[in-house]
Amino acid sequence: MDDSAEALTAAKRAAGYQAADMVEDGMVLGLGTGSTVFYALKRLSTRISEGLRISGVPTSYQTARRAHEYGIPLTTLDAEPVIDLAMDGADQVDVQLRLIKGRGAALTREKCVAAAALRFVVVVDEQKMVPVLSGLVPVEVIPFAIRPVMTRLQDLGCIPHLRDGIKKDGPVITDNGNFIVDCEFGEIGNPEELEDLFAAIPGVVESGLFCSFTRKTTVIVGNQKKCKIINSADIIP
Ligand code: 5RP
Repeated sequence: MDDSAEALTAAKRAAGYQAADMVEDGMVLGLGTGSTVFYALKRLSTRISEGLRISGVPTSYQTARRAHEYGIPLTTLDAEPVIDLAMDGADQVDVQLRLIKGRGAALTREKCVAAAALRFVVVVDEQKMVPVLSGLVPVEVIPFAIRPVMTRLQDLGCIPHLRDGIKKDGPVITDNGNFIVDCEFGEIGNPEELEDLFAAIPGVVESGLFCSFTRKTTVIVGNQKKCKIINSADIIP
């Protein structure tokens, strides 16, 4: 591993570990998806072996498998409709703690779990912090409606790309049996409005814009040396 890859790994590990250290005995957790939050799962596994009692709602098959491997007890939103603390990664975080998520195609379950949580802890490295959200916004779409939805997405001013699988021919199929469309925008001037516009398209299940959780969000920005913690009180209006 070269120096920059090692630094990135150290930053992700630091953020993940710090999130896991915020967990208290008896909590029900939301377990996000991605390489950064997996460090939190790793650290939780160690804390469980030292006596911590928790359970977690996984946001993807991958997270469920990883949690099983790490000995983390799993539960469901049916059994635990209120989550004490959800932890997850993000692809971009802006100065108002609005997020783009969904590189791992788990955005719908991630949003359901974040919505059910009293606190939402987001773990990222410094590269994810941006002044303005921009670029690819993933959108989960039911296959039945893919053609009209692609047209409606284009009408919103983006270039929509149907996401293809790796080691699978054809489109990615999410854990919910749907397609992912990556919507290529420039800078996103009004992310709240765009999130609402996505939600209003029949056939769209969810988008990767997470704008409504900022008040309960804490962002842990990992660094090789020390993590930076940003709360809603630090939001720049
Ligand atoms: C998966 C996600 C991930 O949380 C996001 O892509 C960040 O992943 P990583 O920590 O590996 O960069 O939204 O759907």
